[in-house]
Amino acid sequence: MEYKQHFAAILYGAFDQQLEEETIYQMIEKPKLMSHGDLAFPCFALAKLRRKAPQKIAEETANAIDDPLFVKVEADGAYLNVFLNKQQVAADVIKNVLNERENYGSQNIGNGGVVTIDMSSPNIAKPFSMGHLRSTVIGNSIALILEKTGYKPVKINHLGDWGTQFGKLIVAYKKWGNEEKVRKNTIKELLQLYVTFHEKVDQNPSLEDEGRQWFKRLEDQDTEAMELWKWFREESLKEFNRIYELLGITFDSNQGEAFYNDKMDRVVHLLEGNELLTESEGAQVVDLSDDEMPPCLIRKSDGATLYATRDLAAALYRKETYHFVQSLYVVGNEQSLHFQQLIKVLKKLGYDWADGMHHISFGMILKDGKKMSTRKGKVVLLEEVIQEAIELANTNIEQKNPNIEDKNKVAKSVGVGAVIFHDLKNHRNNDVEFSLEDMLRVEGATGPYVQYTHARASSLLDKGLTKINVNQPILLQDDEAWPVISEIMMFPEIVERAVKSYDPSLVAKYVIDLAQAFNKYYGNVRILEDEQQKFSRLALVKAVSVVLKEGLRLLGISAPKEM
Ligand code: ARG
Repeated sequence: MEYKQHFAAILYGAFDQQLEEETIYQMIEKPKLMSHGDLAFPCFALAKLRRKAPQKIAEETANAIDDPLFVKVEADGAYLNVFLNKQQVAADVIKNVLNERENYGSQNIGNGGVVTIDMSSPNIAKPFSMGHLRSTVIGNSIALILEKTGYKPVKINHLGDWGTQFGKLIVAYKKWGNEEKVRKNTIKELLQLYVTFHEKVDQNPSLEDEGRQWFKRLEDQDTEAMELWKWFREESLKEFNRIYELLGITFDSNQGEAFYNDKMDRVVHLLEGNELLTESEGAQVVDLSDDEMPPCLIRKSDGATLYATRDLAAALYRKETYHFVQSLYVVGNEQSLHFQQLIKVLKKLGYDWADGMHHISFGMILKDGKKMSTRKGKVVLLEEVIQEAIELANTNIEQKNPNIEDKNKVAKSVGVGAVIFHDLKNHRNNDVEFSLEDMLRVEGATGPYVQYTHARASSLLDKGLTKINVNQPILLQDDEAWPVISEIMMFPEIVERAVKSYDPSLVAKYVIDLAQAFNKYYGNVRILEDEQQKFSRLALVKAVSVVLKEGLRLLGISAPKEM
């Protein structure tokens, strides 16, 4: 909040620089009661430094401050209460937004530092799960917020495209598969083949051996094995891409687990060289008992490498390729041990940069309180969910506003926005109850509600027919405007907090608050009626629409002008 900064600077001077400006800034509060002003500062810390009563300090400082932005500075016990010159503040805030437009709230925290974001990362030949959806939309939003704050995000789709299961899949495909069917319905068919393999293995355990042999052939780059694997991968990726297309999300890299095949020997050698590898039941592991963690599995008894080995290789590769300042892994809670182990092992190798690696964990999506499963029979196909949301949005538009332009595009934006917002509006570590009806409601904390508010603002601006001239003086006399102004002022701080805590839900909650404040204003003030006030009011409307749109954009949601 700009005025918090301003107040902090003034106090810094008033306190003879005895407290750091940043410290002062952090200590400034927002009083709960209007009668206590707009900002408050507790004088206890300074009182301690000066060995003086805090009440005394509050009084002296109150008398010393004289600033055009404050109508009153008052001592109230140990507190300093500040009353802002609201008309002046409102005019400044609105002007600022109108000048900066979508750059409002942008700041340079990252100094161009690269942040790799491991996100989405579905497994080839398996359905794209709700968990992968969460990883995709959370990762994407974090990337957008990082970009807004001066970082360079690199979005990496670490596809699960390697592992013993591909040996089994090849066996199943060769025995029972059908090319045409796989081409048509890749994931469904491949999943079915995988299920069939596991059903048959009960009567015929030699299938396991066959699977192992085929995986070995894969690891040895056997042509037939590689061709089948490549084909499964490509076809699966085509299906995943349809989902990414719907969500409007792209990646900077699709280098999955297989990419690290030729980079794992180095990891094993490094671990050996540092005497970190020990034998355990035939396998090679890194013992982590000193850190009260189970051992990290590096190589199985048959020489095959594992998920963790590939992640170690990936971490090294990313550091060396991107020189990241931070490396994020947007992956469900259930893998938290894996990432703790990963970081520990890298630290044992002496890589202090591993401190910049963070597991950005998240909860599950539930249906009727239970985990939504992608196991056989219960596959909830995500693409269908998104399509259904778009369908429903379409029906709503047909009913309410059938004449708008680009109906299909708007329905897509609303349907997809609903799904994304529903995911991002709660802190990522909370579980989310899945409900299509809830997502699409135009009232309550939903994406469509915010989009609708933005469209309402846009339509007011169209009807107002006033060119917003940034240099024209703004004089907002409505008391009702103040809650809207204070929300707008909060935006830069919200963005800052969101990037520091990797938490898009702060932005989601913020756009809801702003939309609510604006709708209340809209309900109480006849914006277009008073010719004298019209310009200033429309300037406020414009500022609201800019900030709502930018807030939604940071979540990965577009804001149609009509809906
Ligand atoms: N493919 C994994 C899964 O679906 C997620 C991979 C997460 N990223 C990583 N670098 N381990 O569970």
